[in-house]
Amino acid sequence: VKAETPLHSLLGMTAPVILAPMALVAGGALASAVSAAGGLGLIGGGYGDRAWLERELDTAGKARIGVGFISWALENQPDLLALALKREPCAILLSFGSVRRFASTIHNAGIPLIVQVQTVADACIAVSEGAAVIVAQGTEAGGHSGTRGTIALVPAVVDAVSPIPVVAAGGIADGRGLAAAMMLGAQAVLCGTAFYAARESLAHVNAKRATLDASGDQTVRSALFDAARGYVWPPQWQARSLVNDFQKRWSAEAGISSDRLKLMQEEYRNALTTGDTGTMAVFVGEAVNLVQSEESATAILHRIMNEAHCRLSGHRSLGASA
Ligand SMILES: Cc1cc2nc3c(=O)[nH]c(=O)nc-3n(C[C@H](O)[C@H](O)[C@H](O)COP(=O)(O)O)c2cc1C
Repeated sequence: VKAETPLHSLLGMTAPVILAPMALVAGGALASAVSAAGGLGLIGGGYGDRAWLERELDTAGKARIGVGFISWALENQPDLLALALKREPCAILLSFGSVRRFASTIHNAGIPLIVQVQTVADACIAVSEGAAVIVAQGTEAGGHSGTRGTIALVPAVVDAVSPIPVVAAGGIADGRGLAAAMMLGAQAVLCGTAFYAARESLAHVNAKRATLDASGDQTVRSALFDAARGYVWPPQWQARSLVNDFQKRWSAEAGISSDRLKLMQEEYRNALTTGDTGTMAVFVGEAVNLVQSEESATAILHRIMNEAHCRLSGHRSLGASA
């Protein structure tokens, strides 16, 4: 899996692995570790916590990193884009909403715009609005996603936006996934779940521990944790996380009144301070089966690369063609 495509020179990568901009999880240390190992680390600008973003950009220092934002949240705090651009990131990734308002600012700064999409139609819109790279994200992903599966979405997006480079995301956490993504026409993969429990990740220690023996069978997409956190997400995107007691209990309640919602939000806030994974969301995807130990980001990336090399050089013949 040599980094020899136009995408790799555009983003300065030698390994086709991009760290997903996980809100409050992918900070400066994790992003710079992934970049130092040859991939590309993206800091998770998420919902726009300015102090958090400044601190994590400081932590990354002069490292070759990029920054990701949630587009609809950035609409409310567009100055955060200027803050990120001042640090001369090597890319900006936008997901979940129109990029029309931001594309020319990013382009004028000479920085590649990566847009993460969940449908073929949105991939075409993103290209028309100025995306230099498309991430096709399947519903297997941790965190927010749409409803299409990675294996059918990626080649459809590759065909629709060619020659714009496409990155595959959603359910990819080892070398088998990377090799498969390359076969589908992707030039790299973008991984969140694979790095969630990395040593440099800012996820709560209890949340990291909860992923180590969890199965993708225990993940579900829902809007419940957005309500608990007070976020109003557009309905086409829901977030995948481990099922827990809080979610089961509140999901069973039909038509939550505003008083009950306040109670739910208070219960959720309290759990964040205690790190109670029976209540707080552990946003990981179906690939959580493949996360079995807390490793360094470098070890994770090297393992994915080595496995993919083995798969691609030794893959079995399909037998005689018809
Ligand atoms: C904990 C977590 C937080 C995430 N936060 C964001 C985010 O703030 N912005 C974003 O564009 N994507 C976010 N994502 C989705 C990722 O960008 C990516 O699509 C996903 O992690 C890929 O699937 P995987 O988890 O199977 O690797 C998040 C994912 C996770 C696991």
